[in-house]
Amino acid sequence: MMRRLLALLLSATLGLALAGAAREPRRPEAEQLEFLTRHWRLPIPPQGAPPARFTPLEASLQPESCGTCHPAQFADWQTSLHAKSMGPGVTGQLVEMVESDPASALHCYTCHAPLAEQQPKVEDGKGGYAVNRGFDPKLETRGLACAACHVRRHQRFGPPKRDGSLASELPREKLPHNGVTRTPAFLRAEFCKDCHQFPPDGFALNGKLLENTYNEWKAGPYGRRGVQCQECHMPDRRHLWRGIHDPSMVRSGVTITLVTDRERYDPGQRVTATLTITNSRVGHSFPTYVTPRVVARVELRDARDRLVPGSREERVIAREVSPDLSRELADTRLAPGQSLTFAYRRELPGRGLRLKAVVTVYPDHFYTGLFESLLAQGAGKGTAQIRDALAATRRSSFVLYEKELPLT
Ligand code: HEC
Ligand code: HEC
Ligand code: HEC
Ligand code: HEC
Ligand code: HEC
Repeated sequence: MMRRLLALLLSATLGLALAGAAREPRRPEAEQLEFLTRHWRLPIPPQGAPPARFTPLEASLQPESCGTCHPAQFADWQTSLHAKSMGPGVTGQLVEMVESDPASALHCYTCHAPLAEQQPKVEDGKGGYAVNRGFDPKLETRGLACAACHVRRHQRFGPPKRDGSLASELPREKLPHNGVTRTPAFLRAEFCKDCHQFPPDGFALNGKLLENTYNEWKAGPYGRRGVQCQECHMPDRRHLWRGIHDPSMVRSGVTITLVTDRERYDPGQRVTATLTITNSRVGHSFPTYVTPRVVARVELRDARDRLVPGSREERVIAREVSPDLSRELADTRLAPGQSLTFAYRRELPGRGLRLKAVVTVYPDHFYTGLFESLLAQGAGKGTAQIRDALAATRRSSFVLYEKELPLT
């Protein structure tokens, strides 16, 4: 089954290099998109020998090396999931796959550790795979490193300066790492697309691509208004990329209200409460992937804070798929602007009762099931890592919203 899952993921990622290809827009836009097609050839080709005048620090691809001169970006990046993209859930699956099925393994690397120097094997040009002589095991563990987004053949690329200008004050050969080539392509949603959007012929369930974040954004109000991914995920150019794992990020995108039809009730009367969850500022579906699960629960509590038996009701917001990715079970995600209206009606059995509503986010719900099934089948040399990853998925849930209303 693990093999089957990998094959599915693999087929989903074929044609990545084609994604983001040309349309026929305004000239600068076409140039930026062409730049991005070149920039995101995956895997990223070997950097080759550094320019002779580079010091070892300038030649290094290690994030800490960049961090000596760019401490703010390094400090942010270290806390991000991009820095953890070679965590135990990924490496636990890769240890054996790199030997048994290098083609599939290298496809995982295209998004999780995309620099050629991070990959233990290379295509040998004869349809097989060979040991990669340029492999740097220390860089491999750093996941989506600075260099993957900013360095090609030892040249630095970056966004325009904050005032919009592209030039540097000094001649480039006087600057560390020969300065930087600046392009507005770094400010576009398409910069993120190759890893956060499957191509049109990628793996789909129930007629919908498994990863469709860019298209959801593009078709929605933020894409139409030109609010790019970076404006929400890299505000003030911060390198945090907060998402579904971060309570304050999720709260920034979702509005939740709880109202009842009256202020006070007598025993035996009927309460009607409405919990409304609105995708008010998420740039795509809430949530966008099949991996998280959001559970809204409403119940009655008595004066001693015990659950009133039979009073609990739940609604789920998620795109739920089976762990082997063979079926979509349900899709209740909220598109931008859309709401879930959870109407709760019940006769009150007594006095001293309170209504309680809780919304909980399980960011790694899918992976809990996946890792459990991998362990059940035997995860081989990856067992210890998959166990760690499974434990982490069980710790990542958080309460997004909680409210109690006295009723009687
Ligand atoms: C020895 C110090 C040093 C090291 C090491 C270094 N940089 Fe830089 N970097 C600079 C300086 C100085 C500038 C400003 C250049 C200019 O004004 O044009 C700069 C500019 C940049 C820019 C453009 C940012 C801006 O201010 O607009 C990017 C992106 C960048 N570096 C990425 C990297 C990456 C990625 C690494 C590691 C692979 C790295 N740098 C390593 C000193 C360094
Ligand atoms: C080279 C591939 C790649 C590129 C380019 C990329 N990402 Fe990611 N991104 C990933 C991977 C892989 C993960 C998952 C890391 C993990 O948890 O193992 C991720 C995770 C994230 C998350 C965290 C999601 C969560 O679950 O909380 C956000 C947000 C995100 N990326 C936004 C962006 C944005 C915005 C851009 C463009 C500026 C971007 N990414 C560019 C590969 C990429
Ligand atoms: C098209 C880019 C892409 C490819 C190819 C890809 N992933 Fe991911 N992966 C992501 C993104 C984006 C996330 C974060 C969103 C999510 O959790 O679904 C992620 C998350 C994960 C996670 C959960 C986070 C973590 O670090 O534990 C695991 C495990 C994982 N991928 C394993 C794999 C494996 C194994 C392969 C190869 C069979 C693979 N991925 C191929 C983009 C990719
Ligand atoms: C997933 C891709 C990605 C990774 C990884 C990444 N960056 Fe960036 N970086 C960007 C983008 C995109 C921008 C422009 C963001 C914007 O302007 O909204 C940027 C901007 C910058 C800037 C200019 C900041 C400014 O204030 O003008 C510097 C410097 C920089 N990055 C350095 C780094 C360093 C150092 C690392 C690693 C510690 C790193 N980046 C990792 C995508 C990335
Ligand atoms: C208007 C702000 C906004 C824009 C624009 C936006 N996002 Fe998000 N994004 C959010 C918020 C808020 C969350 C947290 C809630 C959630 O997970 O749905 C999020 C979550 C995510 C996640 C976490 C995974 C998940 O299942 O939700 C990823 C990955 C992501 N965004 C990528 C992107 C990419 C790529 C783009 C551009 C194509 C983008 N976002 C555009 C606000 C935005």
